[in-house]
Amino acid sequence: MAGRFENKSVFVAGASSGINLAIAEAFAREGAKLTVLSRSEEKIEAAAAGIRSIGLPAIGIACDVRDYPGLEAAFARAVEAHGSIDVLVSGAAGNFLAPARKLSANAFKTVVDIDLLGTFNVFRASFDHLTRPGASLIAITAGQAVHPSPFQIHACAAKAGVNMVTKCLALEWGPAGIRVNAISPGPIADTEGMARLAADPAREAAIKNRLALRDYGRKDDIAEAAMYLASDAARYVTGAILNVDGGNDLGDASTDALA
Ligand code: NAP
Ligand code: COA
Repeated sequence: MAGRFENKSVFVAGASSGINLAIAEAFAREGAKLTVLSRSEEKIEAAAAGIRSIGLPAIGIACDVRDYPGLEAAFARAVEAHGSIDVLVSGAAGNFLAPARKLSANAFKTVVDIDLLGTFNVFRASFDHLTRPGASLIAITAGQAVHPSPFQIHACAAKAGVNMVTKCLALEWGPAGIRVNAISPGPIADTEGMARLAADPAREAAIKNRLALRDYGRKDDIAEAAMYLASDAARYVTGAILNVDGGNDLGDASTDALA
């Protein structure tokens, strides 16, 4: 049976590890031609080589999403290798826990530059290279975009901006046949993100106890959502922020205090 994304050109930014690498690998398994991008030459080449080792075409490009001319060159390379971009995932991000009163202006700016400006840069630099009509753009946001969290003022502000970039571009680019959506993952197991936010088992247990579904998600849960948004099944979906989060967006689902 042919893959769901046979011969489609899929570009994933921030794809050397974690959720975004899982998204890239899932599209590759469905027949797509992949371009993966991140800062580290060594890590992104290893990610691309991993995809190629199962017999699928993939190129890795080392580039920082804060480097706009670098992104322009990256899209030109991707199009030369695989044709115009059918699916674009923008997921590069940085986060760490830090109280606002100890956070330097440069630390705040750094996270905003990677997550928010980086998402704008990736989408903006892709524009001339998108398949139209038909391209699907997907930002990776987070619950912090709508739920203020202590020690994450930088990530909350940045991801709130990512949601608005998603919606504004959906409005502007819809008439050209380009859909723009975002996925908001809940806490996902075996990721750098959760290693940074919940390093100890007690914190992990407390997070799970607050979730309606009482567990972390898997990287493939997010990959499946990305493939849905990129597919024809979502042809009438644009400007959506799709929560794939075990109920995280609903708020505290713990019932201990009521027992
Ligand atoms: P991760 O493994 O650290 O992934 C981040 C990726 O972004 C890496 O491939 C990193 O590679 C790349 N990157 C970082 N800064 C970059 C830059 N300036 N330019 C280009 N690439 C850059 O983290 P993750 O936990 O899987 O998170 C992936 C995405 O999911 C993020 O957008 C995150 O906010 C979101 N998310 C995660 C969770 C979770 O539970 N983990 C929950 C909600 C949302 P290099 O180091 O090679 O650049
Ligand atoms: N607490 C407080 N401030 C911190 C910090 C922390 N844990 N880590 C970095 N900073 C500050 C630095 O001190 C610096 O500020 P200063 O110039 O005032 O001293 C500023 O942030 C930039 O740090 P730098 O290391 O130069 O940034 P970078 O661009 O090399 O790296 C980060 C970006 C800091 C986000 C880094 O953690 C990273 O690369 N993260 C990617 C992986 C990740 O976060 N994955 C989870 C995704 S949700």
